[in-house]
Amino acid sequence: MTDYEPSTYGDKVADIYDALPYVAARPTEATVEFLASIAGKRRVLELGIGTGRIAIPLAAKGFKLCGLDASQKMVAKMREKPGGDAIQVEFGNFGEVKIGGKFSLIYVVFNTFFSLPTQDEQVRCFQRIARHLSDDGVFAIEGFVPDLGRYDRGQRVGAINVSAERVLFEVTQHDISAQCIRSVQVEVRDGETAHLYPVQLRYALPTELDLMARLAGMRLRARYGGWNREPFNLASQLHVSIYELAPKALAAPRPKKRPAKRPARRRRA
Ligand SMILES: C[S@@+](CC[C@H](N)C(=O)[O-])C[C@H]1O[C@@H](n2cnc3c(N)ncnc32)[C@H](O)[C@@H]1O
Repeated sequence: MTDYEPSTYGDKVADIYDALPYVAARPTEATVEFLASIAGKRRVLELGIGTGRIAIPLAAKGFKLCGLDASQKMVAKMREKPGGDAIQVEFGNFGEVKIGGKFSLIYVVFNTFFSLPTQDEQVRCFQRIARHLSDDGVFAIEGFVPDLGRYDRGQRVGAINVSAERVLFEVTQHDISAQCIRSVQVEVRDGETAHLYPVQLRYALPTELDLMARLAGMRLRARYGGWNREPFNLASQLHVSIYELAPKALAAPRPKKRPAKRPARRRRA
């Protein structure tokens, strides 16, 4: 999808996002409770704040919320909700984290981190996040655990919601070498033109995210299999990972300097 930009998904889906069956089924309350428990005392930043599904109830608990998003349409939906106009939002690519100051919690939920399309951009995003964390701050990320068995010869077509009046299904291509998924959700209503909702993701395994964190001077504090602090294990389909700044010594161990070799003494004949 060459015409895919950071704002594409949000701009296309904004009108129906909150009502999508897989969004409505999210454990929103548990997510908010969890984030509130680790938010600390300073400001909180959400990457890809969207319609404020998480940010609004979190702000209602008394936290000072800020958000980044590329889609004006998603944020306009947030502004329509009670409390949605009190949240500071900067527009642009969240991978660049263009917002001033430090935060005691930065978070990105619901696989949104994977919308950064390359490994380089994901690594740089971790580095920018590290610069915006207060010393005791944490970065929380929720992502799916890649399941390559979903794809048959690099593709998948699957039903999301089926009724007599409306079907919602997805058509996906998987490029394993780039760890990239290009997907279009298609909504067809009886008697209406079909609507297309494209999404493009570059997924990473939890271990790759740990390495990105390490490159950015952070380390894993905890990993769970869900927002209710379920254990993370082989059956986990998603992970909630919490990173913190690593002590400087661990951040980027430099290779020890070897003592310069002394020139060998010449023996007298
Ligand atoms: C799946 S929605 C999640 C919204 C909200 N966080 C939630 O959990 O309901 C992803 C959001 O991230 C935004 N987004 C995706 N990629 C982005 C990028 N590179 N920069 C800024 N925003 C981005 C989209 O516009 C959309 O609002």
